Amino acid sequence: MEKKSFYWGASTSAFQVEGGYGEGGKGVATTDVRKVPAGVADSKVASDQYHHLKEDVLLMKELGITLYRFSFNWTRIMGNGYEENPAGIAFYNQLIDLCLENGITPFPTLYHFEMPQRFVEDFAGWQSRKCVEQFVKYAEICFRHFGDRVKYWGTINEQLIASAATDLNGNHETNPELKMKHMYQMSYHMSLAEKKTIEVFRKIVKDGKIGPICSMQVVYPETPAPNDILAARNAQDFLQNCFLDMSVFGRYPTSYSNYLKNKGWYPEIEEEDAAVLENNRPDFIGINYYCSTCVRALTDGEDNSKLPPFYRNELFTLGNNPHLTKTQWMEFGIDPEGLYIGMRDIYERYGLPMVVTENGLAYSDVLEGETVSDHYRIDYLEQHIKQCERLVEEGYPVFGYCPWSLLDLVSSHQGFKKRYGLVYVDRTDEDVKDCRRIPKESYFWYKNRIQSNK
Ligand code: BG6
Repeated sequence: MEKKSFYWGASTSAFQVEGGYGEGGKGVATTDVRKVPAGVADSKVASDQYHHLKEDVLLMKELGITLYRFSFNWTRIMGNGYEENPAGIAFYNQLIDLCLENGITPFPTLYHFEMPQRFVEDFAGWQSRKCVEQFVKYAEICFRHFGDRVKYWGTINEQLIASAATDLNGNHETNPELKMKHMYQMSYHMSLAEKKTIEVFRKIVKDGKIGPICSMQVVYPETPAPNDILAARNAQDFLQNCFLDMSVFGRYPTSYSNYLKNKGWYPEIEEEDAAVLENNRPDFIGINYYCSTCVRALTDGEDNSKLPPFYRNELFTLGNNPHLTKTQWMEFGIDPEGLYIGMRDIYERYGLPMVVTENGLAYSDVLEGETVSDHYRIDYLEQHIKQCERLVEEGYPVFGYCPWSLLDLVSSHQGFKKRYGLVYVDRTDEDVKDCRRIPKESYFWYKNRIQSNK
């Protein structure tokens, strides 16, 4: 494996680790007000990184990572949305400086699921072009404050989820048809905001690199029947290509455009957008990967209304892959080779360098004494790292690997029982306790893995 320029990192996101609800001038985010089921942790305390910042960076240093992929919380930087919040900026300055002092390259993402609740109330969030303007303004503030020291930037994390998860983006429309139309409009606005952000970035952070963070979709047909093969191709267009084709080429796949036009869901686009979309290409693609997806064609009259919105269409639905091992939290199955297949395809289509920004195993870990024996996580990470090494050896430009997650954090929608961390955080869904940090066996294993690859 090409070792010298390869970053071994770890990943988190602001609303999932920070906590510090209402502290230091932080405004109210969509993630602060969303309703979580009884007995499931919300993000008000999360892993309490807001009060454990130095300790967390020291844990990173001890681990030996050289890249920390985190996110800026829009409402910590911008309060309720419209005004810069100096205390929030100071908080991230401290995080960035601590990273740099300890030999860790900071790698923030601008948008990781949360946004100012005020924007949902004022103009329905991403449904309006006003949100594009606000996002670019926020991004510019980040570039101006941090661009002197931060050279790697992510734009939007997993646009697939960001546009579809209504509790995160405030798409509370009750008419199901209209809700879908809004989803596609919101997604378009996110793409436009990303491109305008890159335009501003090039002027301010001249020596920096920026790219989208995608939820990589490795789609398999359930059977070799032609209609299942077509379903898989459609799913690839609707779950991934529609986002990355926009990020890179500034256009949608034809099948996607045709379908949205037929349904009356094609987004409103202004003439002036064309040039912005076509230009402003990213420098790399961030890859989030947990498992592959198996799809099939719908059977006649099949009800798919319970599926997440992005599976709610006539073109494909979820299938089952009997070849993969499934676990409680990894219900689609564990598929290390999928990482190789998916990244190879992404490179062939876009020709850009890639970095693994998220990859990890969820488990309801148990703390026994002062130890968490998470051999299952070590197996998972080892198998996936091997696939990265395979890519690098074959000449694909992969420049880093970040397990999800550095430490236990509140899952995007399933609380604290679903743990991903290399470091155990001592709290439960219902009792925040002291959020003490206890490195798991996987932490020590990863530390050795990094050492032996230096
Ligand atoms: C990715 C997100 O979708 O997957 C993370 O970028 C998220 O924010 C991770 O936590 C795992 O998903 P979940 O739902 O298990 O937290």
